Amino acid sequence: MNAPTHAPTANASTRTRLPYAARLRLPLICAPMYRVTSPELVIAACRAGIVAALPRNNAPDVATFDAWLARIETAAAELPVRAPYAVNLSTRLAPDEMEHHLALCARRGVEIIISATGDPSELIRRAHGHGMLVYADAVNLHFARKAMAAQVDGVIAIGAGGGGHSGTINHLTLVAALRREFAGTIVMAGAVSNGAAIRAAEILGADLAYMGTRFTATQESGAPEAYKQMLVDAAPSDLSYTDSVNGVPANWLVPSLRSHGLDPRAMPAREPGVRGHAHLPETVVPWQNLWSAGQGVAEIDDIPSVAQLLDRLEAEYRAATAVPAFPQRARTA
Ligand SMILES: Cc1cc2nc3c(=O)[nH]c(=O)nc-3n(C[C@H](O)[C@H](O)[C@H](O)COP(=O)(O)O)c2cc1C
Repeated sequence: MNAPTHAPTANASTRTRLPYAARLRLPLICAPMYRVTSPELVIAACRAGIVAALPRNNAPDVATFDAWLARIETAAAELPVRAPYAVNLSTRLAPDEMEHHLALCARRGVEIIISATGDPSELIRRAHGHGMLVYADAVNLHFARKAMAAQVDGVIAIGAGGGGHSGTINHLTLVAALRREFAGTIVMAGAVSNGAAIRAAEILGADLAYMGTRFTATQESGAPEAYKQMLVDAAPSDLSYTDSVNGVPANWLVPSLRSHGLDPRAMPAREPGVRGHAHLPETVVPWQNLWSAGQGVAEIDDIPSVAQLLDRLEAEYRAATAVPAFPQRARTA
């Protein structure tokens, strides 16, 4: 008999892959989002029983970051069951700064560090020293293997169509290929907007789903109201996947570009290989007034509270788990 395609090569049980599974309501992470994730969003997601991640860079300075974590820690301590909370930290911090941030995170009860770009080796080594898990973003197997070689605990497989700096490989391929090589935690990311997609992540071989854009359009997110409404109004055809905004390929909401006089098919010339937005008009700031989203906008037609959203996601997830497999499904269809 052939082994299932997502059988791990090493001997990892679900227990070790997801040591905090019993503390979760759904296998879901509220993804870190620059200028969107507020402490309120993290607290609401923790209260709703899922993992939530705060980007360090959303706080203007370390003191504010610490104050935000203190609020999250206090709110989490009041819960009968405490879902883990995570922090998205740059791999490019100077060693003493990295150490300072990691010590602060550990002191405030952070259980997971998320690394997005750059070499995660040093972050992984130091975070492990503080007893925290590290999950690293990967848009392809090359980056996933680098993180795996550095003993990462989890890989966030960013498939095509995700919000922010997305990849181009379909989740169907990326998650399955990763599971063949990696016995650790796999998180499926990109365009996950409903409970069925969370279930699909598990079926493909992932342990958790990652959800960004859908949480942007919630009451508690820190996004401007006009951004939230644009997500409600937008369709996947309103997105442009381009590096012409800040030098890194990402999915951008075309209406937000147009509202600043930018045409996604005729963007101002950019110096090749240079990151940043110096080529754009001064009033235009990516993430601040040029907005990003994933193709999951197709599923967004309201701006609920996080609690309301989680009730809906859980109902959809449970319904998806009850769908009979072939051939019973074919008979009931
Ligand atoms: C507005 C926005 C900002 C983001 N900022 C960050 C960030 O600061 N750090 C990070 O690791 N990922 C960031 N991401 C990526 C998300 O963490 C996640 O990978 C992505 O939202 C998943 O795709 P989805 O939006 O289709 O659910 C951002 C995504 C969006 C939409």
